[in-house]
Amino acid sequence: MKIEGKEYRTIWFEKDQQSVKIIDQTKLPHQFIIKDLKTVKDAINAIKVMEVRGAPLIGGTAAYGIVLAVIENNDLKFIKQSSEDLIRSRPTAINLKWAVDRMIKKLSGANSEEILNAALKEAKNICDEDEKFCENIGLYGLKIIEEIYDNKKDIVNILTHCNAGWLATINWGTATSPIYHAHKKGIPVHVWVDETRPRNQGANLTSYELNEEQIPNTIIADNTGGILMQRGEVDICIVGTDRTLSTGDVCNKIGTYLKALAANDNNVPFYVALPSSTIDWDIKDFKNIPIEERSSEELSHIEGIDADGKLKKVMIYPKKSKTMNLAFDVTPAKYVTGLITEKGICEASTDAIQKMFK
Ligand code: MRU
Repeated sequence: MKIEGKEYRTIWFEKDQQSVKIIDQTKLPHQFIIKDLKTVKDAINAIKVMEVRGAPLIGGTAAYGIVLAVIENNDLKFIKQSSEDLIRSRPTAINLKWAVDRMIKKLSGANSEEILNAALKEAKNICDEDEKFCENIGLYGLKIIEEIYDNKKDIVNILTHCNAGWLATINWGTATSPIYHAHKKGIPVHVWVDETRPRNQGANLTSYELNEEQIPNTIIADNTGGILMQRGEVDICIVGTDRTLSTGDVCNKIGTYLKALAANDNNVPFYVALPSSTIDWDIKDFKNIPIEERSSEELSHIEGIDADGKLKKVMIYPKKSKTMNLAFDVTPAKYVTGLITEKGICEASTDAIQKMFK
């Protein structure tokens, strides 16, 4: 997708420099900086501090992290140790482990001459596949938006939470892909963008990328969705996910659950868009999903630009107050209208998911 009219993907390998390029998302929307990852430690750090984030992009970065490990030292012991360190870098998005496991499986049989090419090929396959899957998600999701537009014959208002846009994937996004496809087809859409405290991925990333594609959008405080739904100002909610269980329970950015409850109470369809790499086939009880707890500073401090255009971090909480910063919650399957996947749309249930993917 575009930034200042130029097409980008979120991650790519620069052969001449033997380095991985990323867009540093901690600096958006105020600064657009392309950063080099030269070592597997750089990749781990980029995931930890969220220079890259969003489940599919975390997976893509982990895949290229293995490439960087191979460049540093192609001994299988070092690569395996690096893969474990990568998996530990963030706990909730399942795409991370999925991508690392896929890379290790591919490299296990490769000899020292072919291992780098094999790693590069597989990392590129993982990213290309994600781009294709997200494009397909868009084409299936487009049908839902089209149907709403055919009935309403007016602007379709879509609410989304966090950033499940192209910046969270390799390209297109998951939740945003149907929106981009609808916009390209000439369907008038308007997006309610949840700010998504504490890191403000909605405001800083989703609104930013929609602006760059000239898609009308309005940032709202996280608690505004409920009243908008009561007023009939939301036609559909579409969100992404970091891990969806084979039971249909959906783990996503903190606050998603409350949106789903409000949608359910107001008969607003609530869809979750995901590539199959986000499905966890092992955990059956959502209480066993590892929920990331991040630093309290993300809550107590806020960053923005001051009157002189300088980036500044300020404290907004009382010094003595305790904080708790859980990064994800789980929306039970019963509140999910449907899953929009690369293979089509299905019910959020064990049977429907099995039928679609197994
Ligand atoms: O903490 P983040 O910014 O990595 O969380 C991102 C989300 O929760 C997204 O909604 C999810 O990864 C889906 S991305 C297509």
